[in-house]
Amino acid sequence: MKVNIGISEKSLKSSASMLTLVLSNEVVLYTKTRKAHWNVTGSSFMELHKLYEGQYNMLEASIDEVAERIGKLGEKTIGTMQEFLKHATIKESAGKYTSTKDTITELLNDHEIVTMQLRTFIEESSVKNKDAGTIDFLTGLMEQHETIAWILRRYLN
Ligand SMILES: [Fe+2]
Repeated sequence: MKVNIGISEKSLKSSASMLTLVLSNEVVLYTKTRKAHWNVTGSSFMELHKLYEGQYNMLEASIDEVAERIGKLGEKTIGTMQEFLKHATIKESAGKYTSTKDTITELLNDHEIVTMQLRTFIEESSVKNKDAGTIDFLTGLMEQHETIAWILRRYLN
């Protein structure tokens, strides 16, 4: 059934395709944070193990919200690993088990990439799509990534 919420069909499709990319990055980042949780070693094992757990729980909640927002805009939501990897702009590190510091650096870098991507999409949602709901939603999501990035950055100083 057609979505009639005061946003043009073109803009609805544009918002949904942005959200598909966001969803894919969230799934990859969620998986990478899980891997960090499973493989962390060293004297701060338990602290980082729990830190990563808190972060992947946040990402898991975001994944569901992003996925359902695509549906609210009238589009189908992708749901296979193949599609997530095709649409994601952040990369997995298969077969790599890095040091604690390098793992934190890589995750920080990923959160920064996602933050920058979200900032671009917020601008596009405002100027091009005039989609206030998506602007608000993506802004909240971006702030979550800024918070996680801030925390990870602190471990590196
Ligand atoms: Fe666990």
